[in-house]
Order: sequence, then C-alpha cells, then structure tokens
Amino acid sequence: MAYLQTDVTKVTTHVLQNMKQRGEKIAMLTAYDYSMARLLDSTKIDVVLVGDSAANVMDGYKTTLPITLDEMIFYGASVVRAISRALVVVDMPFGTYQGNSKLALASAIRIMKETGADAIKLEGGEEVLESISRILSAGIPVMGHLGLTPQSINKFGTYAVRATEDEEAERLVKDARLLAEAGCFAIVLEKIPAKLAELVTKEVPVPTIGIGAGSAVDGQVLVLQDMLGITQQFKPRYLRQYGTFGEDISNAVKQYISDVKTVNFPNEKEQY
Ligand code: KIV
Repeated sequence: MAYLQTDVTKVTTHVLQNMKQRGEKIAMLTAYDYSMARLLDSTKIDVVLVGDSAANVMDGYKTTLPITLDEMIFYGASVVRAISRALVVVDMPFGTYQGNSKLALASAIRIMKETGADAIKLEGGEEVLESISRILSAGIPVMGHLGLTPQSINKFGTYAVRATEDEEAERLVKDARLLAEAGCFAIVLEKIPAKLAELVTKEVPVPTIGIGAGSAVDGQVLVLQDMLGITQQFKPRYLRQYGTFGEDISNAVKQYISDVKTVNFPNEKEQY
C-alpha cells in the first residue's frame, strides 16, 4: 500500500472513516504535555491520545487505576493547546464511567468542556454499552478499547495477550460489533492475536487501531515514551523503539553536569 499522507487541515472522525475506506493506515501516538504534543502535531500524526497511561509514564504509578479525572483534564488541556491538526482523544479514567451511565456522561462532558478535546476513549464492551450510548447521545464521539484493557488488570491478573481462547475471542468480536453499532467511531484493540484483530477489522465498519494486534488493523498506536526509548524497563514484543532518547537525555545531562563543574559552560559567547 502506497503511503498517502492525508491532506487535511484538521483530522476529524469522518477523516478516519474515509481513511479506513480507502485503506490508508491511521497513525496514533500518546502525548500528555504541551511540548511533546506540539512536536507530534508538526509531524502530521493523525491522532493524539491523551492516554491514562499517563498514570504510568507521567505519574509513576504501577497501574492506570489511580489517575483521576482532574489529572486527565489537566493533561488533556495541555495537549489540546498544542494541537491544530490531529484529532485529540482523551481517556476516561478508571471509576468515571463503569456501572453508572449518568456519571459517565457527566465525566465525559467535563473532559470535553474543560480540555477542548475532540473525543473520549473508554475501555470495555457490552458491560459499558449503556455508558457509551449516553455519552454518544450528548454528541460526544467515543473511541472503544477491547482486548487487554489495563483498567481491568486486577481481574486479568496479568498483562499477557488476551483472547487466545475461543470463548474470549468470540466475546471480543461480539463486543466490537456492539461498539460499532452503538456508534463508536473507532476501536482500539490491545494485545490480541493478529488473526483475531484481522477478523474484527473486517467485521466492523469503523477503524480499528492496534497495539500489539498485528498489521491487518486500520491503524497503530504506541505510547510515545515507549517508542522513543525513554521508558527503559518496558520492552514487550510488539514494541518497536524508534529512538534511544532515554540514553540521549542521560548523556546530555551528564555532559551538562561535567561542563558546569569544569566551568566549560557558559563560555564567552554564552554570557552578557
Ligand atoms: O492509555 C493509553 O496509552 C492507551 C493506549 C495504549 C491505547 O490506552
């Protein structure tokens, strides 16, 4: 497939739908702050996700469960201020939409009003369908998320690949259909077998975005810090590192320390 860079001034959910129809892959990355989001937007990335992975890479928590709605709104608003082209999606954090569709709508409205994002994402299938429908009824675009849903880590007990057994795979296909029928504009498929992701991608009319879900999906997403090589301890099989920025930052800081200590910085030209 030839590389077709979408020539649009603002990526919308309709742009993503058209990309699926003509087979142009969707590129999505996470961002949580203004500086990184500005860099990403200048590259013509299609979608920027303010993921609740911020709990891990920004806040240092072991799981995504502790991050709050206020924190997600803070990160979301910082990213939105930097973006003029990409579609910005903000994750709904754990505890703000499960089992209570009125709370879900109130949380989604806060995200949209206080960040200026284009859409929200939430995890789960049939069990959160009522929340999804209520949010959609307010005109808020919803991205679904199936497979390894990190907010359910205490149920799963492990971050291993999901839906390897028939029963879970069949449930996932059913959930994907339900999300698409309800009106989700796209579905993230995390850490599931490539063949299953291919099947879902053919079954649903909306774009699928994979992370550890093979190449037959409609797009890919990675956590920015992981793909840049800033997250040092996290190297799952699906992750391709496009840089060694962790090392680069460490080397730059060591050089700075040495220059300060040896009075090599600032030099004549670097002072008034
Ligand atoms: O929170 C996140 O970064 C995500 C992606 C990994 C899809 O949900």
